[in-house]
Amino acid sequence: MTSTQYLRDQPSETETEATPPPAKTGRTQVSRRGLLGVAGAGLVGLAAGAAGGYALGTEETTESPQSPGTRTYPFYGEHQAGILTPVQDRLHFAAFDVITSSRGELVQLLKEWTVAAARMTQGLGAGEIGPTSGPYGAPPDDTGEAIGLPPAGLTITFGFGPTLFRKEGKSRFGLPDRQPAALERLPHFPADNLDPQRSDGDLCVQACADDPQIAVHAVRNLARIAFGRAAIRWSQLGFGRTSSTSTSQATPRNLMGFKDGTMNVKAEDPAAVDEHVWVPADADSKGQWLAGGSYLVVRRINMTIEIWDRQPLSEQERIIGRTKAEGAPLTGGSEFSQPDFTLTGSDDEPLVAADAHVRMVHASNNGGAKMLRRGYNFVDGSDGLGRMDAGLFFLAYVRDPGKQFIPIQMKLGLGDGLSEYLQHTGSALFAIPPGIAQGEYVGQPLFA
Ligand code: HEM
Repeated sequence: MTSTQYLRDQPSETETEATPPPAKTGRTQVSRRGLLGVAGAGLVGLAAGAAGGYALGTEETTESPQSPGTRTYPFYGEHQAGILTPVQDRLHFAAFDVITSSRGELVQLLKEWTVAAARMTQGLGAGEIGPTSGPYGAPPDDTGEAIGLPPAGLTITFGFGPTLFRKEGKSRFGLPDRQPAALERLPHFPADNLDPQRSDGDLCVQACADDPQIAVHAVRNLARIAFGRAAIRWSQLGFGRTSSTSTSQATPRNLMGFKDGTMNVKAEDPAAVDEHVWVPADADSKGQWLAGGSYLVVRRINMTIEIWDRQPLSEQERIIGRTKAEGAPLTGGSEFSQPDFTLTGSDDEPLVAADAHVRMVHASNNGGAKMLRRGYNFVDGSDGLGRMDAGLFFLAYVRDPGKQFIPIQMKLGLGDGLSEYLQHTGSALFAIPPGIAQGEYVGQPLFA
């Protein structure tokens, strides 16, 4: 469907006459919070997001004083929201294949996605008319399941996969000269068991919110808008964040029962964020449009939960290298103490085992490389043998995947004690363009 066709779904003058005329205020902007009677807060949120531009880029790093339900984060800013934003509780992630070959239609889609995403993150419907108004003979411009729900801290983050630039050796959308060197399909790692139907994609949308229905509503409406131009290739729901990206958040637990995110890069450490997350202007001659953006590594990691659950506590702690109760390193101290990898026990064995996960991934054992992890737990039902299809949907933002992810994952695949209980079933890499100011569209510098 072209943009023109999409616009045709909205009421023409005649159609508008045939339906009750919109009220002077409100009807053209169906605010979900308006329906809850707190429209004032919504307008403040929208104004903050809209007027913010780059100046508000840092606001996302602090917890909003609003309650989790009514909280909004600015859509516009120096960086996209949903990276440093304190991790919300729920995720709907979708990778899309672009099915049009027209660069103009792709750009138009990104423009329409920008408008809809800016609205939905501020608690408004995806379209101006709303889910229950507009011409009776046309599909509504919002699907309706978010009516009456507050914005729930929704953030929507967009990314571009390597296949947007080049697919099967062929150039796409006139973009190959702008493909950064680091934006290549991730290599095959030892012990990967990837499902192609859960891997890769031309575009990605990460929707995070404190209400699953809000996250699903966001992805669903973006998919609806994309009709005829891009289609969902695969998607993943997540719950119970497995990381914190802010010191204001308690460290959550993954499905192995361990605290996860203790040593994560946190928003309150701007030097670490600059060093490990944002792509600098001089990173790559082809990828200058990505300055201020990031790379998103996506791995769907299944856990053999039933086998893990039969391991003694001592073995579970040995494999992670931290205590299960507090998450403290096995070399002592409390949760945030640094592990001392030189310490040995009475048997002369290292207190943090040679194949313990935290030893393998700690920055001091990887040339200082860190990443901003933002993953989620998932359970996608069970198989006919009663085994849960469950694990960790690993999301990590890095400045350079070739230095911060690939070598570390190579090491993990070969020698991590944890990998015995894991199977990587999905994989993707996306370039996450920088944030935009109001009036621009997401990814605009790439097409400029
Ligand atoms: C299901 C798979 C995984 C589980 C259950 C898991 C679990 C954990 C746990 C419990 C910690 C300690 C707490 C913390 O500092 O956050 C940790 C740390 C960490 N993990 Fe994982 N992890 C998994 C996969 C990965 C992968 C694939 C990578 C990257 C290739 C990774 C990179 C890291 C890093 C960088 C740290 C911080 C280590 C430090 O600085 O001490 N993890 N992980």
